[in-house]
Amino acid sequence: MSRIDCLLRAMTLEEKLGQLNLVTAGQAVTGPVVCGDTTKDICAGRVGGVFNLWGLDALACAQRSAVEETRLGVPLLFGLDVLHGHRTIFPIPLAETGAFDSRLWERTARAAALEAASEGIHLTFAPMLDVSRDPRWGRIAEGPGEDPLVGEKFAQAKVRGFQGDDFSRFYPLAATAKHFCAGGAATAGRDYAAVDVSERALHEVYLPPFRAALEAGCAAVMTAFNNVNGAPMAAQRRLLNGYLRRRLKFDGVIMSDYTAIAELVEHGVAADSVEAAAIALKAGVDMDMVSGVYLAHLPEALDRCLVDMRDIDAAVARVLQLKDRLGLFDDPYRVVRLDAGAKETHRRLALEAARRSATLLTNRGLLPLSANVRRIAIIGPLADAGADMLGPWSAAGGAENCVTTFAGLRRALPNCEIAHHSGVAIEGDDESGIAPACALVKGADAVVLCLGESAGMSGEAACRAALGLPGKQRQLAERVMSAGAPTVALLFCGRPLAVPWLFERAQAVVAAWFLGDRAGEAIADILTGRFNPSARLAVTWPQEVGQVPIFYSARSTGRPFDAANPYTSRYLDCSNDPQFPFGHGLSFSRTTLSNLRVDCAELNTSQPAKVRVDVRSESDIATEETIFLFARDRIASVARPLIELKDWTKVALQPRETATVDFALSAEAFQFPGEDMEPVVEPGDVDIFAGLSADPDRLLSARLRIVCA
Ligand code: BGC
Repeated sequence: MSRIDCLLRAMTLEEKLGQLNLVTAGQAVTGPVVCGDTTKDICAGRVGGVFNLWGLDALACAQRSAVEETRLGVPLLFGLDVLHGHRTIFPIPLAETGAFDSRLWERTARAAALEAASEGIHLTFAPMLDVSRDPRWGRIAEGPGEDPLVGEKFAQAKVRGFQGDDFSRFYPLAATAKHFCAGGAATAGRDYAAVDVSERALHEVYLPPFRAALEAGCAAVMTAFNNVNGAPMAAQRRLLNGYLRRRLKFDGVIMSDYTAIAELVEHGVAADSVEAAAIALKAGVDMDMVSGVYLAHLPEALDRCLVDMRDIDAAVARVLQLKDRLGLFDDPYRVVRLDAGAKETHRRLALEAARRSATLLTNRGLLPLSANVRRIAIIGPLADAGADMLGPWSAAGGAENCVTTFAGLRRALPNCEIAHHSGVAIEGDDESGIAPACALVKGADAVVLCLGESAGMSGEAACRAALGLPGKQRQLAERVMSAGAPTVALLFCGRPLAVPWLFERAQAVVAAWFLGDRAGEAIADILTGRFNPSARLAVTWPQEVGQVPIFYSARSTGRPFDAANPYTSRYLDCSNDPQFPFGHGLSFSRTTLSNLRVDCAELNTSQPAKVRVDVRSESDIATEETIFLFARDRIASVARPLIELKDWTKVALQPRETATVDFALSAEAFQFPGEDMEPVVEPGDVDIFAGLSADPDRLLSARLRIVCA
């Protein structure tokens, strides 16, 4: 009999339910190890996993309680939200996605996994895979942006990075794909709000990144808080047991989000906590995060025949299986050893990731700053805000490791005079600092305006109805820019900000997001031209909040916009165009594409087509370019989006170099959910487009015919 079967046989009902109970310790490293009640519960075998507890001693102490004090000695599982770094903090996921580099995504996840596992953490609640097209939603910062294919590749890279690809060994860190699913489509961009999406949108947009994560072997899934199409996700039998378990054959752990099972009562689908527990278990949720309702109420649910012991045993077996895959039965105190020098390597990686994630949005010749610039005024509330550089979910990272833009610039330009004033706070009404800030600008050769949001304005429970600059920052920016010195604005943010006036007036704007520990150095490298920016937007940038949700892969309308015809799809007060399209991003170099060609006129299901395009650097500096391949299925049984991303590649070009990039396009790439949601490939003509962004006016096109055997 397997170890797991033996344990299951030996367990009392309470011990089984204990394995399904995931509790929060809620302490910082310096706090008490675990609060009294939790320790008591651990010793009594009523806890299966603990999260928000870190520090080797704290974890070892909690683990000892489980292993030595309980009857069966089943080790605890330790979880933490390690999203974009553990000690070393990398750029927030939305920013890092803009590097469009799976290898980078994987390397930062691996570094985070090693750091977390070296401190005894077993499980991360990441990657966050919510595709989102709504920057009002604060959690857009945590995910891969708007595109499902990007989401799929991001999911796979992150799972490989966290878990490693050698499944014969234990995972460095088990990954959790969250939040399953469609939380990124919360009504009006408000966290926890209900989601109403079509079955088609689920299959085309929101499910694919999760499917990809599970294909890569992701150990666990966390359900979303939201009600999706009428059923809260912790009660979604059809998507959990149906889609994940039966269709995708997922046999890992499904956990609820924080107190989400107890919330089924508030959602209006359970009369009481007993029903809530039963509904979630029956739907397929194995672990109850924080509610405690499994532990407290499943016994009564058994008595009321709402669940049976087989449901409980199956959930417990999956939790024990995960502990086994982590090697916890052999070594409950396991820590992954960090190589000497790993911390340095991770810090270097943090700089590389930050440089490759900062997006140059506009540049009217100001950047890179000329060598003649001698006096710089660095103004704004985010110029020297260390903690904010970390962004939301900064795990065990600390502001003390963070280099701010002010510090980074001083280091990069030791011979420049650099004066700093914050002018205003990020939020609030106090304008008294504007005048002294403007005084510093007089006589400056260049102004660096550091504007945006605090780290806490993105992430969970951080939604915004307006997408402008908070507080009095606009007043500051306008007064500073009126002084006439050439100004580069840096936007620190977890989402696109709708600030068309700033794009118009500043000589250059960089989306500096939240770039992590080495934000300030990366930004200084870009401002001074030591690094040629290469990031591209993983999300469409709106001009106005009223355009939201806005995304490049919209479907056509019977009345596409026509300036001469008012009865076409348009706004009265804003153009339909985004401020910047998906894929937008400038470099200091210029690249052109030409000669898009396909090696065959007909594509059948057995042989991929080779698509090639020439890329030429028109500049005197080396560059890294991202080339996107889009397609449109012209006529199909279900109307397809105007363009859809099919692939992308990156190419490094020397000055004035021309290269040819190849894509292999298979018929499968044109698969879509048919009328009955089953995948189909339909014969017919497709347009292939190559571009440096999704800007429809700048795409090269070619034609291909799909023939089905
Ligand atoms: C968040 C999750 C997170 C969990 C544990 C919840 O409030 O929605 O993303 O993993 O807390 O910290």
